[in-house]
Amino acid sequence: MDRLDKVISESGLLSRRECRNYIRMRRIWVDGRPASSADMKVDSSAVIEIDRKRVVVKRRIVALLNKPAGYVTSTSDPRDRTIMELIPEEYRMMGLFPVGRLDKETEGLLVMTNDGDLAHRLISPKRGIRKVYYAKYDGELTEADIEAFREGIVLKDGTRCLPSDISRFREGCLVTVREGRYHQVRRMMASRKLFVTYLERLMEGDLSLGSLERGHFRELDENEEKQLFMEEIPLPNA
Ligand code: URA
Repeated sequence: MDRLDKVISESGLLSRRECRNYIRMRRIWVDGRPASSADMKVDSSAVIEIDRKRVVVKRRIVALLNKPAGYVTSTSDPRDRTIMELIPEEYRMMGLFPVGRLDKETEGLLVMTNDGDLAHRLISPKRGIRKVYYAKYDGELTEADIEAFREGIVLKDGTRCLPSDISRFREGCLVTVREGRYHQVRRMMASRKLFVTYLERLMEGDLSLGSLERGHFRELDENEEKQLFMEEIPLPNA
């Protein structure tokens, strides 16, 4: 639910001031009735008319999905279930797309938005926003592995990754990376003979999943959106 004037102005149809004037002149209708005030709350299914013409309002959305295993990070796929199936009905037509991707079997934090600029800023290598993963694995994590991550892992194909962190955590490990290469964590760990059996993204920037349950989706507020670009909360200790 958002304010009517916010929804209309963010769609570029009228400024907030114009919106207030139009409402006064009964030129904006919501669900078949004249809009009562600029701050009335509307949801994404509201029918909004300006001068008797229905307008399509595209609200900017930044949201979080707690992705379960078994879904591909794609807006459509001929074979597999996609993350779009986990998005509530009222958000399906809002042009949401995932920011970056998690492998089919990887679980956890996935940001979704319809704001191309935000997506761009989040994945930009210049910003190097951290992503924290919890992994279970077969193999033995040694001090040499920890050092190799710190220096920058060289993948099998010769790609040199940026310096990263790995530390023991619960019955697995925590891995922090600042880039988003294909299968990155699995490949980095495999290069040290650590074979991932379970992978979950816990954090992006300072944002974590909080109480959002697996398979669930919710919008982020402005503060949470800012957390994506901050890194002030220390990582849990090993
Ligand atoms: N690294 C991986 O290997 N897989 C993911 O899904 C994300 C990061």
